[in-house]
Amino acid sequence: MDYQKHLKILKETLEQHKITPENLREKRKSFKEFPKQINNRVVDAFQSFAPFDRAPVWMMRQAGRYLPEYREIKAEMDFFATCQNPFIAAEITLQPTKQFDIDAAIIFSDILVLPKMMGMEITIEEKKGPVIANPLVTPDDIQKLHPPNPEHLEHVYDALFLTRLALQGKCNLIGFCGAPWTVFAYMVEGGSSKLFSKVKKWLYLYTEGSLQVLELLAKESAKYLINQVKQGGAQVVQIFDSWAGQIPALDYIEFIIPSLRILFEDFKKECPDTPLIMFAKDQNDKKVIIEFLKLTYNDKPLVDGFQLDSNVSDETLIKIIEGNRTIQGNLEPGVLFGTPAIIKKRISQMIEKLQTTRRYIVNLAHGLTPDHEVEKVRLFVQESQRQSKLYKAKEILE
Ligand code: CP3
Repeated sequence: MDYQKHLKILKETLEQHKITPENLREKRKSFKEFPKQINNRVVDAFQSFAPFDRAPVWMMRQAGRYLPEYREIKAEMDFFATCQNPFIAAEITLQPTKQFDIDAAIIFSDILVLPKMMGMEITIEEKKGPVIANPLVTPDDIQKLHPPNPEHLEHVYDALFLTRLALQGKCNLIGFCGAPWTVFAYMVEGGSSKLFSKVKKWLYLYTEGSLQVLELLAKESAKYLINQVKQGGAQVVQIFDSWAGQIPALDYIEFIIPSLRILFEDFKKECPDTPLIMFAKDQNDKKVIIEFLKLTYNDKPLVDGFQLDSNVSDETLIKIIEGNRTIQGNLEPGVLFGTPAIIKKRISQMIEKLQTTRRYIVNLAHGLTPDHEVEKVRLFVQESQRQSKLYKAKEILE
């Protein structure tokens, strides 16, 4: 397949830097300095003293099937093939930055890329989502897992590198990975699940084995994120724990946070200045946030910011603000199906509530889906920026 014809946004960058499939790796490894950062709003949202005109905006799953230009590529390529081709992954990452005036690009990849490289046989099937042919059934299966061959993840760092070059400092670049618990849930359930009974059985019955896999995933995820920053040029990292809310806060604190701590600490030892955002979806209980806030290394926070879903309580918000951490979120993406009037109203309510801290990044409560309309997404971005500026001006007057 001639994938080169799809490289529309990236084309100029490749010509300018004379990058070809043959020399890409070598170019990355010998590269010295990325273009100067013109828009640093997302990184600045982690420092209370940085200049501020408005809150930054980006959206989870901003690259994907609701974009016609993504569907055009996907019509010809399998999902993991798009992730594994650094040129295509960079092109898809850049697509929403051409459509909208967003302040960050998140690398086009998937949380399942890492377990795929650790021995899980994963495919993404239309309408079903991820399907794993060899799920973990009993603790004996743990032996089937192996650390990923570092070479097999280099394409992600290549894609980050190409994207960072092409962005020319116009917005920040975010790297990510899945949280150990969510990745483990896929490895045991064999795909998406409604009840999560298999992974719950593992956690409460095969507790030792579960903790062993969680720790292995934590260590490998940390290495993966460190490389995304050091090799690829990611400027912020986010950890997606999409199934965090499947277990009570008590169990999350006892069984899950210890492995996350390993991940955070390994990462911060190597990348102390790279902001880390945690997304523990549906696990916004104040008790859990307090546990995250307690985690430090060399007296510096391990978690710099929290992606919040729409059900966050005032008590949790206060704890985060008092802890000098960044808030990211939290508009219910379903609102974007609504009329312009309701979209504007809900954005206004969100900003009134969350922009009370300088450390704020506008985002959704979870990802965009294939049925979102490009024009409504554009309205979200434009309106959030407009209202954020207005709110800031009002604050100065008061
Ligand atoms: O723009 C971005 O946000 C970057 C890309 C991104 C993808 N997946 C691309 C993708 C990111 C950040 C993810 C993370 C991810 N993947 C999560 C955490 C966030 C969340 O949504 O809860 C999870 C749970 C997964 C696992 C996964 N991958 C699922 C459940 C699915 C199928 C669901 C679907 O949308 O079809 C995938 C496949 C996937 N990952 C797609 C995309 C664009 C769809 C594949 C396709 O186009 O056929």
